Amino acid sequence: MPVPATSQTPSQTPSQTPSSAPSADQVLDAWLQGRHSCRAFLREAVPRPAIERLLQLAQRNPSWCNTQPWLVHLVSGEPLERLARAYVDHAATHEPKADLGIPTAYVGVYDARRRECGYSLYQSLGIERSDAERRRQQLLENYRFFGAPHLAVITTDRALGTYGAVDCGGYINCFLLAAHTLGIAAVPQAAVAMHSDFLRRFLALPDDRLVVAGIAFGRADTQHAVNSFRTTRAELEETVTWVGSPAA
Ligand SMILES: Cc1cc2nc3c(=O)[nH]c(=O)nc-3n(C[C@H](O)[C@H](O)[C@H](O)COP(=O)(O)O)c2cc1C
Repeated sequence: MPVPATSQTPSQTPSQTPSSAPSADQVLDAWLQGRHSCRAFLREAVPRPAIERLLQLAQRNPSWCNTQPWLVHLVSGEPLERLARAYVDHAATHEPKADLGIPTAYVGVYDARRRECGYSLYQSLGIERSDAERRRQQLLENYRFFGAPHLAVITTDRALGTYGAVDCGGYINCFLLAAHTLGIAAVPQAAVAMHSDFLRRFLALPDDRLVVAGIAFGRADTQHAVNSFRTTRAELEETVTWVGSPAA
């Protein structure tokens, strides 16, 4: 895939003329809004220089005391095919066992947002809410990495605890945005971390590493229905509590 190492035009760039160049926040807004999770990829590999550029950009993520706790296992080619075959079998037949644990409940608005997102995904694929078997099959697509040619497995240092995982979350976001600027489609995957015991055996991870998530990436299959739906975001009123009042 001819992915240039330099930035492309964001998909929703505000109209740009020499006299009205978009402001930095408008450019960022366009990149943020243009990005989305990709769940069907073409098999075409991303050239190594573009992957290295992506990793360099993601590396700028800030972290507690600049510890930069993320380590990345970049799996491609035959090892990825082997991993996908084994992981689908494992996930289909084993209970989850995640290094970072699993949410104990989705309460209130979190349950509502999760449902909305899930229904949009299944609707895009024509899967009925009542069709448990097709939903299970779609869930297992996570373990085929949606056909992506590359998987980045992100691990954190055990001793750094929760904040190490927080830093890795920031890294994942930086990675996703950097990928988007390079024309590389991606999806973050907590599912990949749901059977950490299996993954740590496959990658021979030492005891001091904890699996945070995977990121499958490559070139989007833009014709695939699953890539047609987009998610929304809550209004600020739902997420921000103003304490004191900044000047208008
Ligand atoms: C930490 C994290 C883990 C995620 N895990 C999965 C996953 O296992 N499978 C999946 O299909 N999507 C996964 N997602 C993608 C979210 O569903 C997606 O980011 C969210 O619905 C917002 O949609 P957008 O990425 O298209 O903006 C994950 C996202 C994050 C940030």
